Order: sequence, then structure tokens, then C-alpha cells
Amino acid sequence: MSAKIQSLRGFNDILPEQTALWRRLFEAVQQVMDAYGYREIKLPLLESTDLFRRSVGEATDIVEKEMFSFVDREKASISLRPEGTAGCVRAGIENGLLHNQQQRLWYQGPMFRHERPQAGRYRQFHQVGLEAYGMLGPDVDVEILALCARLWKRLGLNDIRLEINSLGTPETRVRFRDALVEYLSARIDRLDADSKRRLYTNPLRVLDSKDESTREVLLHAPKLADLLDAESREHFAAVLAGLDALSIDYVINPNLVRGLDYYSRTTFEWTTDQLGAQGTVCGGGRYDGLVSLLGGGEVPAIGFAMGVERLILLMQQQVQLPDLGSPEVYFCWLGDATFVQAAQLAEQLRDAGLRVQLNAGGGAFKAQMKRADRCGAGIALILGEQELAQGVVQVKSLRGGEPQTEVAWTELVPGLQARLAGPISA
Ligand code: HAM
Repeated sequence: MSAKIQSLRGFNDILPEQTALWRRLFEAVQQVMDAYGYREIKLPLLESTDLFRRSVGEATDIVEKEMFSFVDREKASISLRPEGTAGCVRAGIENGLLHNQQQRLWYQGPMFRHERPQAGRYRQFHQVGLEAYGMLGPDVDVEILALCARLWKRLGLNDIRLEINSLGTPETRVRFRDALVEYLSARIDRLDADSKRRLYTNPLRVLDSKDESTREVLLHAPKLADLLDAESREHFAAVLAGLDALSIDYVINPNLVRGLDYYSRTTFEWTTDQLGAQGTVCGGGRYDGLVSLLGGGEVPAIGFAMGVERLILLMQQQVQLPDLGSPEVYFCWLGDATFVQAAQLAEQLRDAGLRVQLNAGGGAFKAQMKRADRCGAGIALILGEQELAQGVVQVKSLRGGEPQTEVAWTELVPGLQARLAGPISA
């Protein structure tokens, strides 16, 4: 026997039992995006590696060690997208969507990062992302956070907390970075190994350290909030006031710096305690400098991305879901002569909007009824040779206690519709 081929580590199959939840999630996403006037954009999975180097940043974990990059047949370095923002800006510039106009865009699909897989962290994962261009004021920051809050509510999810911070302008960040490096260099002996390395490559990431000794050192480190320029301070205050006005709760987290380089001013994460270590279900912020960095004009921008798998895990914990996908009716037919009639009746039922699974692959009555039960249908229809001769089918309830009845073909559609709308199968 030849060896079994297995999936790649961190690349998951999403099985039919889960796809009903995915469908519920994406229906809600679509409704909420429509409610705020965001339009979907579809972007390639592969982009030139340089795009991510320049936007996400050379010294970030993503670019340094997590990208699936390879050289293609034309000897160009290309990468599976680790995130969607860079591609969205690239597409916006290339298609003239960003010049002198506003855009409200969203996208969804797989992203790829070579991280160590664990619950809630995968190498192929899915994001729902949103990007808004051409709006400088705090109003749009509030808008996209309200959109998130509405989505959580629509999905029936609780215990998701908004953490928010302001990184100020790029100049603020440089000043803060210098002050932080100066402070931490003087205390380098007390930092963990990762933070020592980051101190010179990406010092703001030291703020994310979970190491106890490093955390102690950070307690008295310079605070970004103290160095914020007046305009960023005003912008941040207006965002918070907007959230207050819409009754959206938040916690200010001065250490929230995010793992990608392109952010400025407002940054935020939605987190939950219900998912262990991978509790961030959504992250984002402003990136007013990225469009010009990638060769477009001065276009202010803000966005976020949600981790679909993490939201699905939360939905599994918190949401009661009727099985959306299973058939309502399983149609058993016995004897070769009955097939044509069964197939025609099944088509009529589908014309009337019913979800019908027609038995295939033969089988004795008992075997067919077992399939009927397994597929989750509430009703089984049975057409044998006797029923064929009389122009009727047997209607048998699989869940409720309704008695089996015999129904004429002409009465089948209204009969089933009434039965499915009734209290037992509702
Ligand atoms: P990010 O924080 O890198 O931001 O990712 C956003 C979300 O994707 C995370 O909060 C998490 O829920 C999910 N996620 C990230 N990595 C994984 C993984 N390995 N497995 C499962 N889920 C994961 C961005 O990607 C930015 N592009 C967001 C953004 C858009 N900022 C502005 N616009």
C-alpha cells in the first residue's frame, strides 16, 4: 500500500459540519457591510514579495519569518499574501480608485503565515478585512468600530472587548522610538532574549513582551501618550467621544502597537478571554502614510481585519444554530419503476423552494430510512410500487410524533409546506 498523503501543517480542511457556521457568519458580514455602504473587492492571493516588504515592514515578524515566498518561473520573488491591506492599496492605486475620492471597501479570503500552529492560529487562515480611503477625520474611525460592534451583535457574540490606542504621527513614533530605545538600552540586562533582539530592529514590539522581567522594566518606560502631538491627541479624543456617543465600550491600552509597520494614530484590537492565547479576533487602525509609500498620493486610510476561524470558534461556544444546510425532506423510492415519478416529484418540490434529497444508490427500505435519518431531514417521503399505482406517497415524520399519512401527488407541495411551517418541525 502506498503512503498516505496528509495535509500540510497549519492548513485545515473546513468540514461540512462547520460550513453552516461559516455561512451564517458571511451572511451577517454581507448585511453589515451593506448597511454601512462598503463594497466588496476581490484581490489576488499572490503578490510580489516587495509589496509586503515595503508595506508591512522589513523588521516585522510577518516579513522576517512568516511569509510563504518563492521564486516563480520568471525568477521573480512572489509571496502568498500574509494579509490584505497591502494588496488592497496596490489594487487601489493601480486601478485609480484612490485619487481624489473616497472608497469604502471590504474583502475576504485566505491569508498565509508560517507561524507555529495552535488552537486559533494556523498557517492558512481567513480574514474579513475592511479598508476606508480618503477620509482623514475621526468620524470614519468611529464608523468602522461601530460596524464591528454591530457585527458582534448580529452574530450573537458576547465578551468581545475593544482595546484602543493612538500611535500619533510617524514623527511621534520616531521620537517615542528613540526615547524607548534609550530607556531600554540602559536596562538591557533585564530584557528577555526576544526583546533584546527587537530593541534594535523593531523596538515598539518590545511593548508586546509577555516576559515578566521585561514587563517590569516597561512599567516606568516613556509613554507614547505623553509624546503625542496636539493633532493626534485631538483626533484620539474625538474618536473616544464618538464611541461614547454610540455607547461602544472600550479600554485604552497604551501598549497596543500592533505587529505591522504601517500604522499611525488610531490603532485597535477586539479581544476575548474565551479563546486562550489567541484572543484577538480583529485588529486594525489608521495607516495614513501607506498609500504614498506605495507610490500613490497622500491618501488617508483606515481599516481592520477579523480572523474568521477565531470568530467561528467563538460562535461554536456561544451561538445556537439551526442546521441551515440539511435537507428538509428525504425521498425514498423502492423498485426501478418508481424512479422517474420520484425524480419528477422531487423536482416539483424543489421548484416550490423545498430542500429535498432524493435517494440514490438503491438500498432496501431500512437502509434508505437510515440515510433519511442521518441527513438531518424532518420528513421522509416513501414511494413504493403500490403508491405508484395509486398516485400517492407516504409522508413520515422523522422528528416529531406526527402519524404517517398518505398524500396524493397533487396535494404534496401544499401538504409539505403546511407541515414544515407547523409547530412540530419549526
Ligand atoms: P493582523 O492583526 O495581522 O492585521 O490580523 C488581523 C486578524 O487576523 C487577527 O486579529 C487575527 O484574528 C487574525 N489572524 C492573524 N494571524 C492569524 C493566524 N495565523 N491564524 C488565525 N488567525 C489569524 C492585519 O492583517 C491587518 N491587515 C489589518 C488591517 C487592515 N489594518 C488595517 N487594515
